[in-house]
Amino acid sequence: MNASIDDLVTQARVAFEQATTPADLENAKAVYLGKTGRITELMKGLGALSVDEKKTQGALINKVKQGIEEALQARRMQMQAAELERQLQAEALDVTLPGRAQHKGGLHPVSMTMERIERVFSSMGFEVAKGPEIETDWFNFTALNTPQNHPARSMHDTFYVEGGHLLRTHTSPMQIRHAVQHVKRHQSLIESGQSMPEIRVIAPGRTYRVDSDATHSPMFHQCEGLWIGEQVSFKDLKVVFTNFCKMFFESDDLILRFRPSFFPFTEPSAEIDIQFASGPLAGRWLEVAGSGQVHPNVVRNMGLDPERYIGFAFGMGPDRLTMLRYGVNDLRLFFDGDLRFLHQFQ
Ligand code: DAH
Repeated sequence: MNASIDDLVTQARVAFEQATTPADLENAKAVYLGKTGRITELMKGLGALSVDEKKTQGALINKVKQGIEEALQARRMQMQAAELERQLQAEALDVTLPGRAQHKGGLHPVSMTMERIERVFSSMGFEVAKGPEIETDWFNFTALNTPQNHPARSMHDTFYVEGGHLLRTHTSPMQIRHAVQHVKRHQSLIESGQSMPEIRVIAPGRTYRVDSDATHSPMFHQCEGLWIGEQVSFKDLKVVFTNFCKMFFESDDLILRFRPSFFPFTEPSAEIDIQFASGPLAGRWLEVAGSGQVHPNVVRNMGLDPERYIGFAFGMGPDRLTMLRYGVNDLRLFFDGDLRFLHQFQ
């Protein structure tokens, strides 16, 4: 009898070991410690014993019960540890994996250039005007002294859209659009023969031509400049554009060359070349803008008297300026959207 009571602990331990889930374990526990379990049964049996027997038997049962409880507790702990280990395995983190970087957005290099151009010209008292990319023939060509059949139009093969409209081939139409607005605003001064405040404006934006190679893209950027007043001369153009280049490239180590050229909307016209004294491009003449004194016909189309108002205009390529500033040799990189390229500017 006593031997079998002692064996109960071993039996229970085996049963607990065989339980593989907490539910199994609870069932196994009930067999020994439950209301109708083996220990309870033994306890019930004590009533029939003598006082002395009760003492020894009772103490023995208690010891066995304790042993079973300990075995149960040990198995519970074991199960918990196994469960924890399983979870840890399942949710294992490899802390040596590379982290997931937070990618910050940034401005496109050409946008940075556009903003830079705006800042520099604002600092010289120029307004910034924006206008439509879908233009009329009048603003894009005719008002700029480039009538139908003018040979200069063939250099501007463009995308025509419905209704005789086209994607603007340059930002020059903004000369007319802005000047007309300016003249309207100061109509009463002009009519009474007083001096109108000067027009000093830049107009950056997107432009379009049927052109595509390493230095031409069907969509590209331009920034127009216009300064019209009563005393504005080519000398002012030289000063303004030279100062702009020095500020833009953050260098005094550059010179400009105004090379005679032709544009229908300026007379005389010049192409502006830049040469750096140092750096990878040192010693080379690089074309950065077209410019000239605004043609009298264009001044007239602005609603102004060309006998009284005179000035200059220029048109430059922010894409080109960005290439020069950062040493990029293929224009298409700007418009391919390759993040490996673009990240370098952040
Ligand atoms: N619009 C010309 C072009 O796209 C550039 C240009 C030349 C603009 C002379 C001007 C200018 O304002 O005066 O080729």
